[in-house]
Amino acid sequence: MEILRTIESYRELYVDLQGPIGLVPTLGGVHEGHLSLVDEAKKDCKTIVSWLFLNPKQFGPNEDLNSYPAEEKEDISLLDQRGVDILLIPKTIDIYPSDFDTVVKLGKITELLEGSRRPGHFDGVTTIVSKMFNIIQPDRAYFGEKDAQQLRVIQKMVKDLNFPVEIISCPTVRDNDGLALSSRNKYLSIVERNDALSLYQGLHNAKASFESGERNADIVRNVVIQEIKKSPLITIDYVSLSDPLSLVEISGKITPPALLSLAVHIGKTHLIDNVLLE
Ligand code: PAF
Repeated sequence: MEILRTIESYRELYVDLQGPIGLVPTLGGVHEGHLSLVDEAKKDCKTIVSWLFLNPKQFGPNEDLNSYPAEEKEDISLLDQRGVDILLIPKTIDIYPSDFDTVVKLGKITELLEGSRRPGHFDGVTTIVSKMFNIIQPDRAYFGEKDAQQLRVIQKMVKDLNFPVEIISCPTVRDNDGLALSSRNKYLSIVERNDALSLYQGLHNAKASFESGERNADIVRNVVIQEIKKSPLITIDYVSLSDPLSLVEISGKITPPALLSLAVHIGKTHLIDNVLLE
């Protein structure tokens, strides 16, 4: 794997790269979820480029930028072993020079769910992802469905702004006990991790009730809430049942498909998860 640290060095290599180019972006804290994106990219791309950048603009002032569990050496080794061809690790000063003054901002879709709890978060995501697409110029870019809202926001940005890249969404990877993989799982104590199992259990129970015919949105949301409430360490931020594209909340009767998603705090750790009801 070639490790590059400047945009110019990538540009020099880019002219000779064999397409299709598949891009797997990460903030760091690489885990099996990211590596499954590499596997997907390898299925239909000739060159796999990964991007490793802990983007400060997508973290709020009271969020975990300074403690984010990113270990560069370990991240490099995991991406290398999985078959990434080129890894770009840009420097913050090159991405955001002192005169940087642009924000890529989408509308309503970024104000709902995570956006309502983390003001400015999606502006940080869409700004860095726009820069990343312009720098890497991939044919395809791979994103996980665990970050369902991020995925929808990026799909919408690509459509609205005509970015010449295909967004490939990949299934959430879970531990054997159902917990969705997340870099932030590293923050959890053993007791907290045990409580965190109620997230998937709640989603799973709600999906089962939907599959056995329940179509009342409040009842389905409530199945999740009641399961999570059994875990004393968890504070629920939201449990949402929304249209999977617009993310607008469904009231009354569910007409599938619908996105059942949630965000919680376990101590200081913010976790999200979701399932699609089809
Ligand atoms: O999902 C992530 O890891 C980040 O939000 C991304 C897409 C790399 C942008 O910084």
